[in-house]
Order: sequence, then C-alpha cells, then structure tokens
Amino acid sequence: KKIAVFASGNGSNFQAIIDAVKEKKLSCNVVLLVCDKPGAYCIERAEKANVPTLVLSPKDFPSKAEYETEILNRLKEEKVELIVLAGYMRLIGETLLSAYEGKIINIHPSLLPAFPGLDAIGQAYNAKVKITGVTVHYVDEGMDTGPIIAQEAVRVEETDTRESLQEKIQKVEHSLYPSVIQKLCSGENL
Ligand code: GRF
Repeated sequence: KKIAVFASGNGSNFQAIIDAVKEKKLSCNVVLLVCDKPGAYCIERAEKANVPTLVLSPKDFPSKAEYETEILNRLKEEKVELIVLAGYMRLIGETLLSAYEGKIINIHPSLLPAFPGLDAIGQAYNAKVKITGVTVHYVDEGMDTGPIIAQEAVRVEETDTRESLQEKIQKVEHSLYPSVIQKLCSGENL
C-alpha cells in the first residue's frame, strides 16, 4: 500500500515508520510527508530518507477546504491509499475526510477516551493515574475521537517524572504504530 504521513513537528513516529519499512518489518511505501509547519524537523527526516514532501502553511490559503484540496490533489497524484497522522496538530476537515473515509488513522499518547487533546502525557501525569498508554484510532471530525484500532498500556511508576513517562510512551508508540500500519497494509480488518 501507498501511505502518506502527516506531521507537524519532530516526527519521531514518522521516523519509526520509515525505519520499520527499511528493516522490512513494514511492507508499504511511504510516498509522501505532508507538513503544515515550514521548518519542522520531520521535513529534514524526510529529506534524509528520500521521502518526497509537501510543506504548506494553512494561513496561505483562504479556507481549510482550499488548503485540503491542495493536499488532496497531491495525494491523488501519488495514489495514496492510507493517511497516517503522526503528530499532525490540526483537525482533518470535510474535504479529506470524505475523500479518505475510513482510511485515515491517528496515534495519541493516552488510553482514549481519557486525556484527549493537547499534552495528553502531561494531563495523565498531573492526574496521577497509575496506568496510561497509547491509542491508535480511525479519524473522524472530532479531536482524538473515532473508532479505536489498538491500545497499549503503560504503567506510571512512583519514580516516573513527566519526562520519563514521555520516554516510555514514545517507545511504545514507535513499535505499536508500525505494527498496526502493517496489519492495515496487509489487508487485515481492524
Ligand atoms: C506523539 O506523541 C503522538 O502520539 C502525538 O503527537 C506526538 C508526535 O510526536 N499525536 P513525534 O512528532 O512523532 O515525535
């Protein structure tokens, strides 16, 4: 399958996907990185891995629909079959949702529906929960809503800091996301 990854920042999940493909743990083609933040580190990662990029500033477009239409045209050109959101800090609008219904997934650093939205790791840490984790889910019009595909729990130890918890969660993300994408690419219904 041909996949496009959407990211806004560091792109460590994007990197984990590229690495999994290289190591043949994931059999799909990452044909495009879409980034809404010029200068974001994920763009450098794409260039290093020879993944084509589409970098756009939404503010250069008169509307979200026009911004997404520009993305959609490129996705069609590249024959993208699955959209993988990996730290893309923006809600997906009607234009992309209707064109890729049931074919957009996201990863979120909590056990949804707990702690949706920004800084889910900090939210969980401050709430002093004993267990948090990672969720991969289909994307709908909401923020971190949509049917859940997979979850993995992470235990919060007494000795954990906000930073050590983040490290544990990211480690889980970097193995869970490629494995879920592999299942979707091999035609499993999740
Ligand atoms: C990850 O924690 C992901 O779950 C969330 O945004 C973060 C992106 O991190 N949606 P990175 O850019 O992949 O390093």
